[in-house]
Amino acid sequence: MAHVRHLISIDDLTDTDLHALVARGAAFSAGGAGRPAPLTGAVVGVYFSKTSTRTRTAFSSGALRLGGQIVSYGPGDLQLNTGETSEDTGRVMSRMLDVLVARTAGDPAEMRAWAAQDRMAVVNAMSAEEHPTQALTDLTTLYRRFGRIEGLRVLYVGEGNNTASALALALTRFPGATLELRTPPGYGLAPYYRERAAEQAARYGATFRERHDMDEPPADQDVVYTTRWQTTGSSKPDADWRDVFAPFQVTAALWDTSPKAVFMHDLPAHRGDEVTAEVLDGPASIAFAQAENKMHSAMAVLEWCRT
Ligand code: CP
Repeated sequence: MAHVRHLISIDDLTDTDLHALVARGAAFSAGGAGRPAPLTGAVVGVYFSKTSTRTRTAFSSGALRLGGQIVSYGPGDLQLNTGETSEDTGRVMSRMLDVLVARTAGDPAEMRAWAAQDRMAVVNAMSAEEHPTQALTDLTTLYRRFGRIEGLRVLYVGEGNNTASALALALTRFPGATLELRTPPGYGLAPYYRERAAEQAARYGATFRERHDMDEPPADQDVVYTTRWQTTGSSKPDADWRDVFAPFQVTAALWDTSPKAVFMHDLPAHRGDEVTAEVLDGPASIAFAQAENKMHSAMAVLEWCRT
């Protein structure tokens, strides 16, 4: 039986794991990983209780390319809907599946309950608080583009959502890296992630900052990153939230002081909201290469979680 490893949070990864997953994702992306088939004979469950274009396709396509087979579940399919416990769901699925890739609206505790067994690997394909496979994709994309992550300067503009949480946990583990978040007031990073990122930055020699305005954005950035204003599976409590978010739209003006920056976006995008079409579809954008890297990074994760 293969050794099983779960990926519920970036916190679950050792530094060695994190570096290896990024390097392996980049190797798949560059076409230099050969044609391994570590999932031959394995069955991967793909359960998405929330909408997805990229992550669901990335893990489904990635599993098939690695020789596995998939079973897909939509939001209405599992007896979780009728009150079966997460623990019982995990116990049953682990007797039939080798990997479960799941997106939920819940907190990580639900996935931890599924992972309370040692037969089936559980991969968080986005939960309310964290999107760890997005962060691995993002680091893979940075590594492909710059050949390193250490020392990179990343300006993240937008909601402190699950993409931002995972990115903060991951990027602050690279010496010399700088992550500056500009998040709308009231929509910042959740306290655990802010405190953890600050603590890691101090420990690893990285820099982490968060502000709630767009005054004097930092110059000479390597990356400007944004995310859509309406995070999948969430809603805004205040009716006037668009007024709060408006100053945080990413426009070409940011490139006046960071002319060499690449633009990244986890997608899906809403042109005219979080970013102008000029930026998203412009020469600095690597957002669609980043989207493709979701599959390459998913393959690295699927290979790793059964090694
Ligand atoms: N970035 C991302 O997670 O995309 P999907 O919601 O389409 O999976």
